[in-house]
Amino acid sequence: MYSIAPSILSANFVRLEEEIAAVESGGASILHVDVMDGRFVPNITIGLPVVRSIRKSTSMTIDTHLMIVEPGNYAVQFVDAGADMVSVHIEADPHVHRTLQGIRQAGAKAGVVVNPGTPISALEEAIYHADFVLLMSVNPGFGGQRFIPRSIDRLRELRQMISERGLDVKIEIDGGIDLTNVAEVADAGAEIMVAGSAVFGTDDPAEAVRALSNRGAVWV
Ligand code: DX5
Ligand code: ZN
Repeated sequence: MYSIAPSILSANFVRLEEEIAAVESGGASILHVDVMDGRFVPNITIGLPVVRSIRKSTSMTIDTHLMIVEPGNYAVQFVDAGADMVSVHIEADPHVHRTLQGIRQAGAKAGVVVNPGTPISALEEAIYHADFVLLMSVNPGFGGQRFIPRSIDRLRELRQMISERGLDVKIEIDGGIDLTNVAEVADAGAEIMVAGSAVFGTDDPAEAVRALSNRGAVWV
């Protein structure tokens, strides 16, 4: 079993409330919100005020993915704005232990994110302090990129790291997830699948969530 977490990065921001209601009606329970600062990644998206507004209009789990420098200065503010899950990049934070602890103490699930060019072994310490790991299967910054195939082996390596240590850490994957690969990434150990363009890039986001959810073990 896995969950689909639609990423609003590919949504129509003028009709955001309707877009969110559509994916919720399709069965999604987690909403992925990509926060970019134009420094950690070469793109700028949305921040705290939008998270506050989304919080008022949905009961879905809000999953904020912080692609920002110095995430430790902002992570708890996102919890206060209404996020239920907050993740920070291992590459962006020399004080990731403190940041993860702060997120947990503020009452949210704490996640650590790993870029495609960062070895999984970089998580060996942080994984003890995280509720979930977000494995990037594209380089962060933009929606609609192609899934990097090597991510499958990295998922397996991460799954093994977690089980060898007997930890209860969920694995989320982000980037290029669609109907052609969702079953394979589930098989490799991912439990939360972020999907942006494969959901909001279609005419019927609710149906897209249903289709991705029902992929089961069928490989395309
Ligand atoms: C990329 C973001 C993703 C993005 C995924 O930097 O972190 O969450 O929205 O979009 P797709 O599913 O189109 O690759
Ligand atoms: Zn993301």
